[in-house]
Amino acid sequence: MSTPQIQERIGKLRAAIERHNHLYYVANQPEISDREYDRLYHELAELEKQYPQFMTPDSPTQRVGGAPLTAFKSVRHRAPMMSLDNTYSPAELTAFHDRLRRQLPHQAFSYIVEPKVDGVAVTLRYERGRLVTGSTRGDGATGDDITANLRTIRSIPLTLFSANRPPAVLEVRGEVYMRRDGFAALNRARESAGEEPFANPRNAAAGSLKLLDARIVARRPLDVVLYGVGELEGIAFETHAQLLESLKEFGLKTPLRFWQCAALAEVFQALEELKRIRPTFPFEIDGGVIKLNERSFYAQLGATAKSPRWAVAFKYESARAETTLKSITVQVGRTGALTPVAELESVTLAGSTISRATLHNADEIKRKDIRVGDRVYVEKAGEVIPEVVGVNIAARTGKERVFHMPEKCPVCGEQVAQAEDAVALRCENLQCPAQLKRWLQHFAARGAMDIEGLGEALIDQLVDQRLVRDPSDLYQLRPEQVADLERLAEKSAQNLIDAIAASRRREFWRVLFALGIRQVGAKKAQTLEQHYASIEALMKATPDELQQIRDLGPIVAQSIGDYFRSARNRALIGRLRQAGINLKRAPGAAAKGGRLAGKTFVLTGALEHFTREQAGAAIRALGGEVSASVSKKTFAVVAGADPGSKLDKARKLGVKIMNEAEFMKLSVSAPAGLS
Ligand code: IVH
Repeated sequence: MSTPQIQERIGKLRAAIERHNHLYYVANQPEISDREYDRLYHELAELEKQYPQFMTPDSPTQRVGGAPLTAFKSVRHRAPMMSLDNTYSPAELTAFHDRLRRQLPHQAFSYIVEPKVDGVAVTLRYERGRLVTGSTRGDGATGDDITANLRTIRSIPLTLFSANRPPAVLEVRGEVYMRRDGFAALNRARESAGEEPFANPRNAAAGSLKLLDARIVARRPLDVVLYGVGELEGIAFETHAQLLESLKEFGLKTPLRFWQCAALAEVFQALEELKRIRPTFPFEIDGGVIKLNERSFYAQLGATAKSPRWAVAFKYESARAETTLKSITVQVGRTGALTPVAELESVTLAGSTISRATLHNADEIKRKDIRVGDRVYVEKAGEVIPEVVGVNIAARTGKERVFHMPEKCPVCGEQVAQAEDAVALRCENLQCPAQLKRWLQHFAARGAMDIEGLGEALIDQLVDQRLVRDPSDLYQLRPEQVADLERLAEKSAQNLIDAIAASRRREFWRVLFALGIRQVGAKKAQTLEQHYASIEALMKATPDELQQIRDLGPIVAQSIGDYFRSARNRALIGRLRQAGINLKRAPGAAAKGGRLAGKTFVLTGALEHFTREQAGAAIRALGGEVSASVSKKTFAVVAGADPGSKLDKARKLGVKIMNEAEFMKLSVSAPAGLS
């Protein structure tokens, strides 16, 4: 192909991919199979690699950005990003309507009713049809620049469709949300990786958008719906219905359903229908939004401090109760995450008595402006845990106190740190009793070391009486020490000691899982066992090398690297070893059927097609091992360019020497690092 032809092909591929993205993610009417789509995508990626001069930031291959950010930049909203007043009853909604009637005397007007999606408000700024910035609401005047994160959402077009010239500026506003199914899958994955699950889809969406690493955001099942505009230049809309129609024509994702209503009675009908079909939406809807359709009246109606007067939200009552927030306590989870909990005056909610409810995190408390002493509304969230959803501001007396998260862990008193997702605070003291208790529960659980009889009540006592400071102490316990514990007869004391002793022989992967390395769930632990015959071998692995293993991404690799770098963790491993815990793969358990099982390789010199790590991973993937030094037991030395003294030693010992081509032949079907 000639250069102009290549350029043309790239342009065509980009347009086709954008179109199919739209058909798939926005219109929900795909025309081609995933395979065909992948083919187009790969052809484009390949051309862009060969001809980097034709790369542009709005290419569909450029959705997931490069290096993580250290902080978000601030963005000033050119038009303030407002919120909505809530109404909860027909009477309140009628009052809204009556006010409009008074303010627009003798004027005919109509309404649009839209679903109120429970997500996170965002602004997307398109200049001449290109997405330039995406931001959060923040305080309404200034938000965070989360462009890199928003670009990963496939239903957000990087360039607008437009038959004519796109407007100079089109700021669109909407909600980023997570579907219920994606949320459930994400939480399952988090729990099996030993991470704290999100409380609800809204929190999951908010937490995801706050991540500084867009590569992680790209894997979160986020979606968007756009229902409004901010700054406009070169475009105007007479009615809200036209606005929605126009956004849709630009390829933007607008509400699935909306109702045009000529009278208040129709608004009530629409809200009834929305309520009825609410469960059929694949995401959470917490009410309806009623908007004046005629935009020409907006300026005249104006706004209050935080909301426009031309729109209002109508929230569906879910099981909800009002009560007093007596105090806020802070719980510490297994990973050290600090969760604020509302201590409430008891109240009945959907048939059960509630005296505690989650407040999620400091951001949520601030967002809802919840203060100690407030009369608060409690709801059963989609899940079972009740949640404080808002404050009865009218009931404020002025005696309420603003809450601040503690700077020290409420259990151990150590300094707390901001967690990597920037939302939660975390106690990083692994000896913190709260963390320790949960860690021991995890360690002893059936899927991990499977220590029968070592349940929560016993663990609490062992920690509180300082008999156990980390899992290795379990193995030093004597029957007479535990016999004193509450609710433990002499016989069961011995049973417990026996059960603990028996756990010394658990499979290596169970030990790895039991350690509670972040991101390492049972499945990942099994993968690690297949590649590393012992904890020593795993401790030597670099994150680069770990990443070459299929199923282990950069985050897991990093987390494992961090774990073993910690002196405290290394000391723990030493104590577990001394306690006689199995820290090796059983001889027969090597990569099942691995062609290289039992064979040890030594790598020397530079290989042309692999890094050292990739070659190592390929060997391990087939059940083989890699050693740093040559001995008689070495199966083969793989020698690249400029080999070192290892080659001489191999010759001396008569060990087989392979060049790169031979090695490649041997390892062709290795899954990792060779594609
Ligand atoms: S219009 C200036 N429409 O609910 C008007 N908001 O509780 C801005 N929301 O701040 C909002 N669905 O984050 C609008 N169809 C919808 C909405 C919606 C969800 C969110 C939005 C808003 C909040 C108010």
